[in-house]
Amino acid sequence: METGLDLTGQAFERLPDPSSEVFTAPLKRPPHVGEDWLEPAQRVYGADEHAVWDDLFARQMEVLPGRAASAFLAGLDKLDLGRGGVPEFARLSRDLGRLTGWSVVPVPMLIPDHVFFWHLANRRFPAGNFIRTRAAFDYIEEPDVFHDVFGHVPMLADPTYADYMQAYGRAGWKAMRYNRLKALGALYWYTVEFGLIEEAGGLRAYGAGILSGPSEAVFALEARSPNRIYLNVDRVMRTDYVIDDLQPTYFVIESLADLYHQTVERDFDRLYRGLGPGFTYANTAVIDIDNVHSRGTLEYHLRGGRKSGARPV
Ligand code: PHE
Ligand code: CO
Repeated sequence: METGLDLTGQAFERLPDPSSEVFTAPLKRPPHVGEDWLEPAQRVYGADEHAVWDDLFARQMEVLPGRAASAFLAGLDKLDLGRGGVPEFARLSRDLGRLTGWSVVPVPMLIPDHVFFWHLANRRFPAGNFIRTRAAFDYIEEPDVFHDVFGHVPMLADPTYADYMQAYGRAGWKAMRYNRLKALGALYWYTVEFGLIEEAGGLRAYGAGILSGPSEAVFALEARSPNRIYLNVDRVMRTDYVIDDLQPTYFVIESLADLYHQTVERDFDRLYRGLGPGFTYANTAVIDIDNVHSRGTLEYHLRGGRKSGARPV
């Protein structure tokens, strides 16, 4: 089944050692974690922290029915993530293990790319241990346990998506070899974090960045500003992205099998060889090869976006 993922002889169980020539963001490892960046145990949360989870959960559930992908809603249900309080990783890993062989492991903060790839390649999802404070209820810079567990974990209960995430992790080895981590990062961004899927009932969101936030689901699916373009892996990997505002462009898949096949079957060796070091397309661009679902007015971004207080219409 693994056409295009020719990493024969690659030892995915061993932590890869990226050369110093690979362009990657420097992160300072806290002294209490080892090379794997794993916390010795999940945090123990206070009652107020469990209440933050419950309030965030309740707020998302006002928005997500009819907007979240059916695989996501099914995952929430199967894993019983709404039982109250921050989920226990041990129990979550046991349930997820039965469904797709994945586990959830606690990390203190954003971890380096090569460590992240290594965990994914071994079906471990690293999740931020801490939970946001009430002061940062709407918007956080670093992924916390709500973003990671509520946003990402339900999709991992789907077998096709679970395979995609593992293949993505393995693909990190090749991206490091070609020094093209930014391009592979753009694929993650536009699928795992901000992906849309076409379902019988209409467009839905499956990206964790959309599903874990208060306003992006409505914007991504219903606003007139953003472009919605059918996913093309080569195109997406050449496209810049914003990390601190709503997206000007979303990419749409026809099914999770479509996502899996498009990415697994494309030979990234060939893609990387033809790719420059930076991005080719602005995140607002619509280009002539695009298969456009709906073209946006981009008015939110043209009016200056979040920093200008523009309305997300
Ligand atoms: N087809 C990709 C390669 O040749 C591997 C890949 C699979 C990448 C799934 C991302 C997601 O490297
Ligand atoms: Co995320």
